[in-house]
Amino acid sequence: MKRNYYFAAAAACVLSVLLSGCQRTDSGESARLQAGVACYNQSDVFISELTEALREELEGLESRGVTATLTLKDAAGSQRTQDDQVKELIDEGCNVLCVNLVDRTDPSEIIDLARENDVPIIFFNREPVAEDLMQWSGLYYVGADAEQSGIMQGQLAAQAIQEEGNLVDRNRDGVIQYVVLEGEAGHQDAIIRTEKAVDTLKSQGISLEKLSYGVANWNRAQAENRMTQMIGEHQNRIELVLANNDAMALGAMDAYRKLNITEATFPVFFGIDGTREGLQAIVDSRMAGTVYNDKEGQAKAMAELAAALILGEGMEDISFEKEKYLYLPYEKITRDNVEEYLDR
Ligand code: BGC
Repeated sequence: MKRNYYFAAAAACVLSVLLSGCQRTDSGESARLQAGVACYNQSDVFISELTEALREELEGLESRGVTATLTLKDAAGSQRTQDDQVKELIDEGCNVLCVNLVDRTDPSEIIDLARENDVPIIFFNREPVAEDLMQWSGLYYVGADAEQSGIMQGQLAAQAIQEEGNLVDRNRDGVIQYVVLEGEAGHQDAIIRTEKAVDTLKSQGISLEKLSYGVANWNRAQAENRMTQMIGEHQNRIELVLANNDAMALGAMDAYRKLNITEATFPVFFGIDGTREGLQAIVDSRMAGTVYNDKEGQAKAMAELAAALILGEGMEDISFEKEKYLYLPYEKITRDNVEEYLDR
């Protein structure tokens, strides 16, 4: 009788592991992942969509025997505040930290706190400099390669110019007059995206004339402001707007709309991210193209890494670059393939 009981119990156990693909702790209970997520600014559209995706990915770990909770803190643009928030997250018992630095050159206090308490950190989206990431073995980065996004934006713009010629080069002078809307100074994505997009256009034989640029810190309202000023200076001479992200491309469009400028004289707009509103602008043909900043892929990579860290296994299945970095590829989006991205 007793033997049968053991046999049945063992069989049930094997079956449940097979069915769920579960990873259990030694005691057979599900492992606890308490993720402390510190964001530079929750009003940033891309960051809020990324953290939403992270929440979903963490919930999905349940099927692997990991019960995850997420505590989110918003530093609202202050590194001081973020340092304090990371301390609170550690005091509240978080066993993995996901940190989106306010100042990517100033992570030392956070790294010291994490190391003293032996809580690993997955930095994301705002990349610390390499020397800082080398400070301790429990530090990782999940993000994407800025250069690739700039090159892809340049390719999208080049294609539109080559295919639609006069629709972009409205004054038909053989030169594309353009302006740039830039993200925060010092952010790894801002300058590189602009440089690479412009270099790519030039390498495709397109003649360019830069009329102006504005720093709008990734923000739609600031971009509207900058664009209104640039329209004031250059009127209908602007043929192309390269924005470092979708939010700023949308802000530029707001400026045109609010000034009641006729659509026939609008420039062609390109963004980066593929946020919900960005994708909608492509569906509506208001924006010509964007580059997908794979938030679901980044969120999944963070959740899997966090699970491997607390389970103490599975790290060998993760393909790191330089043992610490995970970069998710960007993808080009136009009217032709936007549908594929709408339900992600
Ligand atoms: C995104 C921006 C976002 C920024 C925040 C960039 O990678 O493209 O939309 O505002 O990260 O750090």
